[in-house]
Amino acid sequence: MITNTRRIGQPEVIITSDEYAKFCEYFYHKTGILFTEKKAYFVERRLTDCMERIGSTSFREYFSLLRFELSGAEWQQLVNELTVNETYFLREDYQFDALVRGMLPEIVKGRDRGATVRIWSLPCSTGEEPYSIAIHILENWARSDDFAIEISASDIDSRVIATAIEGTYAERSLHRLSPGLRRKYFSKISSDQFQLRDEIRQSIQFSACNAVDPLSMSKYRSIDVIFCRNLLIYFDDTSRRESVDLMYECLRPGGFICLGHAESMSKISSLFKPRKFGDTIVYQKVS
Ligand SMILES: C[S@@+](CC[C@H](N)C(=O)[O-])C[C@H]1O[C@@H](n2cnc3c(N)ncnc32)[C@H](O)[C@@H]1O
Repeated sequence: MITNTRRIGQPEVIITSDEYAKFCEYFYHKTGILFTEKKAYFVERRLTDCMERIGSTSFREYFSLLRFELSGAEWQQLVNELTVNETYFLREDYQFDALVRGMLPEIVKGRDRGATVRIWSLPCSTGEEPYSIAIHILENWARSDDFAIEISASDIDSRVIATAIEGTYAERSLHRLSPGLRRKYFSKISSDQFQLRDEIRQSIQFSACNAVDPLSMSKYRSIDVIFCRNLLIYFDDTSRRESVDLMYECLRPGGFICLGHAESMSKISSLFKPRKFGDTIVYQKVS
């Protein structure tokens, strides 16, 4: 039953309140992202933009396409529109200090020289986080040459992964990097565009992954450290729990999860114990 109508974007595109609620439920079920009523304008705006792009004026028809299109291409386009990808180099870098001073030394204790250490940035957005991890390790961990450090990086948004692989950034992404690090790891290609050097760009494995999808997450195993920062803030407690349980399976015994400063494991899971390294708390898999 239509209880209300919303008329936004082009006048002919109408989404009823019921349709909006149905869409949000479906989106939540598929991605873990919960849109509250406060986000209605943002969501509807992007929905109608997508509908207009393909010339659809019926939400019903568009919703069917989202659910049943075999390629999943339109679904992916919409996901790309609805994710929030804010990130920058050296964001919350005290955790990178905790990585080189506390977590890595513990992880390699008892491992042979040359052994693999696996670090995963999920979600990685446009790549600043995994590239920062690589740079920070190279600059600050004296034993970086003694181990095979594999850094992988994933996101649900295919557009940000393409940007990450390209490795070209604007000034606003680099504002926390010193002039020395900029010179060492980037070449300036225009007044506001900086290209990351190939050695760093090619050292990260990028892939698509949905943090609440068991099949997608099952491809990642034996990880030592997961950087899962600024993702859980978009989830509710149920999807937080789902994704943290899946991450637990991805980690080696004793592996670590780093969350964003506004996120915490309390209330979500008792499978991890909090560990304090310097000024930051990270979570260790209880084995
Ligand atoms: C704010 S960015 C965080 C990037 C980086 N970790 C940081 O802290 O700077 C949030 C990212 O989460 C991704 N995301 C949202 N839901 C996801 C899901 N279910 N699985 C994987 N990535 C997801 C979005 O596409 C977006 O790029």
